[in-house]
Amino acid sequence: MKENLGHLRKSYQKSSLELSDVGTSPLELFQKWFEMAKMDPAVEEVNAMSLATLGTDGFPKSRIVLLKSFSAEGFVFFTNYDSEKGLAIAQHPQVGLTFFWPSLERQVIIKGRASKIATEESDTYFQSRPKGSQLGALVSKQSQEIPNRAVLDEALKRLEKQYEALPISRPQNWGGYMIAPRSIEFWQGRPNRLHDRILARWDGEQWNSVRLSP
Ligand SMILES: Cc1cc2nc3c(=O)[nH]c(=O)nc-3n(C[C@H](O)[C@H](O)[C@H](O)COP(=O)(O)O)c2cc1C
Repeated sequence: MKENLGHLRKSYQKSSLELSDVGTSPLELFQKWFEMAKMDPAVEEVNAMSLATLGTDGFPKSRIVLLKSFSAEGFVFFTNYDSEKGLAIAQHPQVGLTFFWPSLERQVIIKGRASKIATEESDTYFQSRPKGSQLGALVSKQSQEIPNRAVLDEALKRLEKQYEALPISRPQNWGGYMIAPRSIEFWQGRPNRLHDRILARWDGEQWNSVRLSP
């Protein structure tokens, strides 16, 4: 079977981007774009981002995770440290993040170094989660092969009973990573495929921005 998708094309024309919009504070522009995406009813999960890692098998892999906070220091998400991505990050902490907000015709690509956040911060976030999500984190040996669905459902039932009247502590292998950004590229769709791309790079002291050819 072959499906030809050559006819699927869209012209981008909603906005534009200047070097001066990014300047020396890409985080400010990221925040502005994030707020605009948050306000846009067409954007369903504004904080969904693709996380790319270089795997222990030598292959790159990207998957969606949810951004839970960001600041000048970095971008934070939570996961299982023993998952495929966790093992990949342990070997190669250099990772990529990509946001795509189609209704705004915008993409943001971040490269940075991942490191585990402080255990107390992971504790605080874990305690803020609904009990069902907490139990889910206990049940799931994320990325490991399992024989069937029932394994999960039965483990959840067992733990629901066990923790009915008890608080749940964060599993040691579950917590946050912060990606300290080294470069942030802003992409704004433009007509005729002549998109605006502004790349901000951290030189160790400050951010410098350049324009890239689309
Ligand atoms: C919308 C969406 C949000 C997700 N958020 C997270 C998340 O915040 N943390 C997480 O570990 N997995 C999240 N996942 C699941 C991951 O995409 C992935 O399946 C899982 O982390 C296992 O990846 P790995 O085997 O490469 O480690 C999310 C998936 C989707 C589609």
